[in-house]
Amino acid sequence: MNLKIAVLPGDGIGPEIIAQAIKVVGAIAEKFKHEISFTYGLVGAAAIDQYGNPYPEETHQLCLNADAILFGAIGDPKYDNNPKAKVRPEQGLLEMRKRLGLFANIRPVISFPSLIEKSPLKREIIEGVDFICLRELTGGLYFGKPQGRSEDGKTAYDTCVYSEYEITRIMKLGFELAAKRQKKLTLVDKANVLATSRLWRETAQNMAKDYPDVLLEYMFVDNAAMQIIQWPKRFDVLVTENLFGDILSDESSVISGSLGILPSASIGIENFLFEPIHGSYPQAAGKNIANPLATILSTAMMFEYAFNLNSESSLIKEAVEKSIVEGIVTEDISKIGKSFSTSEVGDWITKFIKNK
Ligand code: IPM
Ligand code: MG
Repeated sequence: MNLKIAVLPGDGIGPEIIAQAIKVVGAIAEKFKHEISFTYGLVGAAAIDQYGNPYPEETHQLCLNADAILFGAIGDPKYDNNPKAKVRPEQGLLEMRKRLGLFANIRPVISFPSLIEKSPLKREIIEGVDFICLRELTGGLYFGKPQGRSEDGKTAYDTCVYSEYEITRIMKLGFELAAKRQKKLTLVDKANVLATSRLWRETAQNMAKDYPDVLLEYMFVDNAAMQIIQWPKRFDVLVTENLFGDILSDESSVISGSLGILPSASIGIENFLFEPIHGSYPQAAGKNIANPLATILSTAMMFEYAFNLNSESSLIKEAVEKSIVEGIVTEDISKIGKSFSTSEVGDWITKFIKNK
């Protein structure tokens, strides 16, 4: 296949981890005879420094013209706790999601057998966990209007808005994902309090008859927060609105033992974006110590979800699993003893793919 990838390394460790992912994608292209081109763009603090805008028009055009977008991380401490900063890097991410229509965020939650000890949770609770956290990404409190302050500045407000259309398109994806897996879909909401949640339930219930082999269940978000830690194996596909999904997906990451290995896919109407779920980890920037596995696994999701190339995706996942088993990993997930640098891990995985 002929594939165009827009590469947005972003801030902090973004460039280093993206570099490893690019090597891996290059090796896959060679092995499976794909023509893959990479075009780079700026986003986040890097883009503010150069253009005064965290999501410049150039970058937007680049994304629109690509078959898939590979994203590193966004955020720079110089903008944190600085109320005077007019633009923040994170605004770039939100604008990108909105303008590209990336309405669904897919985060797989799995426990890697060789990393079980890294999780603070007990082995018997997390062994064999395998679920998907599906988060709505362009609605709810993040984007609802009005948002702001009263004239005297002493009152602030955010608005949670969801339309039936927005709910339907993400629920459809939820039902489809569940149908391909264990056929259980859990809608997480706060329908005992929120009007938006009640519309989610009503919409989901109406759709359920079109998916007779998927079991749809409902769960309040406070209860879900508890069950994710107490009994994570009960979940197959968990679908929820934007803010609940933001919180629950971070919580879920504890199961895997490290934020450093978790990938994500953001699915739009015409665009696809893939990114590690961790942030820009500024303390580690430039030190060649950041874990590249989440970004490399994000490329596996790219081959699967954007290109429908499952052998390519499986080979990347196999290489990553092998690197973990062999202990060719960065310090955050290494067991006592030797650890490897970001680029050494990337090189090892690239070589594994080439030699396979
Ligand atoms: C995420 C992040 C973002 C979000 C921030 C950086 C705006 O936490 O992708 O989960 O809240 O969506
Ligand atoms: Mg988050």
